[in-house]
Amino acid sequence: KRAVKIGIIGFGTVGRGVYRILTTNQEKLIQRVGIGLEIAGIAVRDLKKPRQISAPQDLFTADPWQLVNDPGIDIIVEVMGGTELARELVLQALRNGKSVITANKDLIAQHGQELFAEADAARVDLLFEASVGGGIPIIRPLKQCLAANNISQVMGIINGTTNYMLTKMTQEGSDYEEVLREAQAMGYAEADPTADVGGFDAARKLAILASIAFHTRITFDQVYVEGITRISAKDITYAREMGYVIKLLGVAKEHEGRVEVRVHPALVPQYHPLAAVNDAFNAIFVRGDAVGDTMFYGRGAGELPTASAVVADIMDAARNINLGNRGRISCTCYEQKEIIPIQE
Ligand code: NAP
Ligand code: HSE
Repeated sequence: KRAVKIGIIGFGTVGRGVYRILTTNQEKLIQRVGIGLEIAGIAVRDLKKPRQISAPQDLFTADPWQLVNDPGIDIIVEVMGGTELARELVLQALRNGKSVITANKDLIAQHGQELFAEADAARVDLLFEASVGGGIPIIRPLKQCLAANNISQVMGIINGTTNYMLTKMTQEGSDYEEVLREAQAMGYAEADPTADVGGFDAARKLAILASIAFHTRITFDQVYVEGITRISAKDITYAREMGYVIKLLGVAKEHEGRVEVRVHPALVPQYHPLAAVNDAFNAIFVRGDAVGDTMFYGRGAGELPTASAVVADIMDAARNINLGNRGRISCTCYEQKEIIPIQE
């Protein structure tokens, strides 16, 4: 049997992590999947840019369409970011019968409905575990492991950059701009970090989680958003004096068909488990009527944690190709639900 061929679009923080894991653990991954895994091409914007890890030059192209339209490629990994070009590339890949893996929450939150319909029509996999919570398993648990529950609440810390910043500002009195630069250097922040500090990245992730958890369609613009841009050193000091820490929380609740979705800084009591979630770690609580409370915790951003989720998706897609079982993890059924408006 020939190996499953993979085209990676993007070789930044996440893309190079994917390359690193696939090449370092290659033999073991192949054993676990039961079929060969071969990187057939890597698309980047700038072929001359110095890279943090080396990969054979002949794998690189500046034309992502070359990978998407290559009939020899079975799986496209979109770790480029953005919404317009990414949407066109992913749609074309799905239409060409390729499975697609993406870490792009902006894409899923904005165009998920269209993309899932295309994946269903083409009977291929469209997997996005890394789009929320970095390396934390949360999409599959919500879609599959907790599928028997009526979920009433999904809540937690879902942005690594702002949690890193708030941790450093709280514990070390660091300056806002300085810690933002650190988070960017660590590879946690989005290309435009306004998405992180403005709360929009968390809002996109919350829209994805709430849509899956409540079996409805919640779009980014339905989420109330307030970021951390107005949090000052004084706020942090006063909070500490009163026994609290400040965390950027995403909260989604459903009660009798009415849904509330909001992202904003919150005062968390120092004894609460969320107060101990530091640096770029994320923690997500899910409440189901059968299972009760569950908590998912781990590294929410960065090269290898995020790539860990992307590579697991690649393995699932490859396994499905091997078994002739693609399109298995398709979208949920959707019910109409009312969104409760949040007043400022
Ligand atoms: P990044 O470091 O900025 O890397 C983006 C990569 O995409 C770069 O290699 C860039 O090429 C390439 N690229 C951009 N435009 C392109 C184009 N038109 N054609 C071909 N290649 C293009 O971004 P990242 O942090 O890896 O994030 C990638 C995606 O993963 C985003 O959707 C992000 O939201 C998501 N994500 C990131 C993290 C994280 O911790 N960083 C975690 C979860 C999800 P050059 O290298 O030549 O510039
Ligand atoms: N910028 C995002 C964060 C990356 O800081 O959480 C992970 O999705």
